[in-house]
Amino acid sequence: MNFKLRPWRKDDLDSLVKHANNANIARNITDRFPHPYTLEAGEQFIELTTSPENLDRFRVIEVDGEFAGGIGIHPHDDIFRLNAEIAYWLTEPLWNKGIITKAIQEMIHYGFTHFGVTRIFGTVLGSNLGSQRVLEKAGFTLENKISDSIIKYEKVEDCLIYGIRNV
Ligand SMILES: CC(C)(COP(=O)(O)OP(=O)(O)OC[C@H]1O[C@@H](n2cnc3c(N)ncnc32)[C@H](O)[C@@H]1OP(=O)(O)O)[C@@H](O)C(=O)NCCC(=O)NCCS
Repeated sequence: MNFKLRPWRKDDLDSLVKHANNANIARNITDRFPHPYTLEAGEQFIELTTSPENLDRFRVIEVDGEFAGGIGIHPHDDIFRLNAEIAYWLTEPLWNKGIITKAIQEMIHYGFTHFGVTRIFGTVLGSNLGSQRVLEKAGFTLENKISDSIIKYEKVEDCLIYGIRNV
């Protein structure tokens, strides 16, 4: 399987809307990723990811030359500038083949070298066991569990914070 990360392009719109329009993805992440995933949501996201100031934060995941998902790394600022947050999703037919574990490993190497941060973290819903496992496989450790602090689809959930350090 040929896997690579590349910058977003304007012509990713149709593939984005097609693969992102999945309730099994949307229920695991922020409400900013809607379901149904509309053309308007896709246009706004592509505008964000292709804007010059964001080009180094967002990547398309490509598998065998085809669009397969997205991954982003977001450095914080001010007194939190040593930290960056990572977020990701993959088209459902490709789940459980190790792809996101590889994508995260590539992005954290890039994040530590390009942004100079010393900590990269991910926040995960307590019910999202797949994402917790992925972060553990990629070398993250569970830093904290903030009980009953997320509300997703009217259900209150724990927030798990996983982190990795550049030592
Ligand atoms: C979470 C997600 C990114 C994982 O991507 P992926 O490429 O399938 O991940 P990998 O194949 O690298 O690893 C998945 C691991 O989770 C495990 N897993 C998957 N579902 C699981 C579940 N319900 N319970 C326990 N483990 C689970 C797999 O067995 C695998 O671990 P293993 O290699 O030890 O067997 C993908 O499922 C996805 O896009 N989900 C929806 C969006 C999302 O949750 N994004 C992250 C928000 S924090």
